Amino acid sequence: MEIKSDFLVIGSGIGGLSFALKAAKSGTVTIITKRGVSESATFYAQGGIASVWSKEDSFESHIKDTLDAGAGLCRKDIVDMVVRDAPRRIQELISLGVKFSKRPIGVDSGNIEELDLGKEGGHSKRRIIHATDLTGKAVEDALVNAVNADPNITVYENHIAVDLITHSKFVGQADKEMVWGAYVLDKPSGEVKTFLAKATILATGGAGKVYLFTSNPDVATGDGIAMAYRIGADIANMEFIQFHPTCLYHSKAKSFLISEALRGEGAVLKTKDGGAFMRRHHPMADLAPRDIVARAIDFELKKSGDDCVFLDISHKSAAFLKDRFPNIHKKCLEFNIDITKDLIPVVPAAHYTCGGVRTDRDGATSAERLYAIGEAACTGLHGANRLASNSLLEALVFAGRASLHAADVVKNTGSIIPSIPAWETRGAVTSDEAVVITQNWDEIRRFMWNYVGIVRSDKRLARALRRINLLKNEINEYYWNFTITNNIVELRNIASTAELIIKSAMSRKESRGLHYTIDHPEKDDANFLKDTVVRME
Ligand code: SIN
Repeated sequence: MEIKSDFLVIGSGIGGLSFALKAAKSGTVTIITKRGVSESATFYAQGGIASVWSKEDSFESHIKDTLDAGAGLCRKDIVDMVVRDAPRRIQELISLGVKFSKRPIGVDSGNIEELDLGKEGGHSKRRIIHATDLTGKAVEDALVNAVNADPNITVYENHIAVDLITHSKFVGQADKEMVWGAYVLDKPSGEVKTFLAKATILATGGAGKVYLFTSNPDVATGDGIAMAYRIGADIANMEFIQFHPTCLYHSKAKSFLISEALRGEGAVLKTKDGGAFMRRHHPMADLAPRDIVARAIDFELKKSGDDCVFLDISHKSAAFLKDRFPNIHKKCLEFNIDITKDLIPVVPAAHYTCGGVRTDRDGATSAERLYAIGEAACTGLHGANRLASNSLLEALVFAGRASLHAADVVKNTGSIIPSIPAWETRGAVTSDEAVVITQNWDEIRRFMWNYVGIVRSDKRLARALRRINLLKNEINEYYWNFTITNNIVELRNIASTAELIIKSAMSRKESRGLHYTIDHPEKDDANFLKDTVVRME
């Protein structure tokens, strides 16, 4: 089966849906998504969207905080552009119907309200626009409603992209690689369909599932990054994996995040004996940038041999906590933890992929007709460490810019899309050994956690590389011999992404931002004040 449209969007989080809504003004849009349309990292985002909003704040301050967190690797022009564009993008979401949390202006304000601004690590001012602790859901719901109402957009749920369709493979040599869509597995039927488009947008999110412990939903398997790598696009800064300091530590609480906004409202990290420890690690204490907090927790856990540390916000009133953090309050109660009275057990977990498919100011990648937006992209905003709540903002800004750029490309293409052969199964049979998939999946996630985690070393990285090389061969063999399934597609992508993280980490022989190695503990500006770019030859 062949489906043609002007724009093919792969992924349905904030980047993909925002792009689709804008692009639909100039052409037909197809969105494919691996599960239900709302199932994305966006949906689970708790914190919010950073934007200068109050009179006490300034663009210069937000820019400085972003650059400080990024440890020398942010692109200043991109930071400037994104930060200054933020208020307009927030306004667009409000116009779409997103109800951000508000608070009364002053004590005698009557009914006049303004947006409530939260605070998170690394921010010197209150500037996090949020919808209680369910910001992602509020945004995703509004975007999904708008997409469903747009006659120019068609959504295919339960469809996973297998590989991008390139000009050089199916049409003929071109000076620069060009993308004409993707082969896509319709999961329920098992058919691999051909989705053709004049512009293809990777909005596939990050790769948290490469690690054993992650705050990410199951869909975060690095699909877009791996697909782009396979066609030779530039991939940058994959060593910079952000570990969120505070995921709930409970055997049944899969990936549940305890938002940094709690620390923004005064929560304190403590060891089992009740001692607050962050002041020993950084002058900003509990509101230090995330890399520092995550490493501090790792240090305290290794020193004490404990399984977790604790977050304490019990000094705030119960009424405030229930109103500001209704979701976290409710979820913790399910595990018999009352955040109004109890300490909350927390551990760090893989949270955000700062690197990704390298793009320019318009979200365009090194391949023509291919764009990357959001966590799948490396735009230059985050550098070596993302500032909290800058990611939904980045997705909004780049979705807007990429939609304009891609609309021009589509307009100039006219009606021509080359003819592309249907997917070939090449004698593949149904697997009778699916255990290979679970075994390899578990192995990758465990050695990535142990060897390529918060604290790295040359020896651990070399061990990880040996293992990934071995597993890659096994996975490839399996991929070519057996009928394609969702699990094998995701496993293949996880393996490629893990390889990219390991190789990028090995090449950076210094410590900077989120990449910390005991063998090269200092920054080395003379040799490494630059992006790590990896490309499949
Ligand atoms: C959080 O709520 O702590 C996450 C915010 C973010 O990752 O930007």
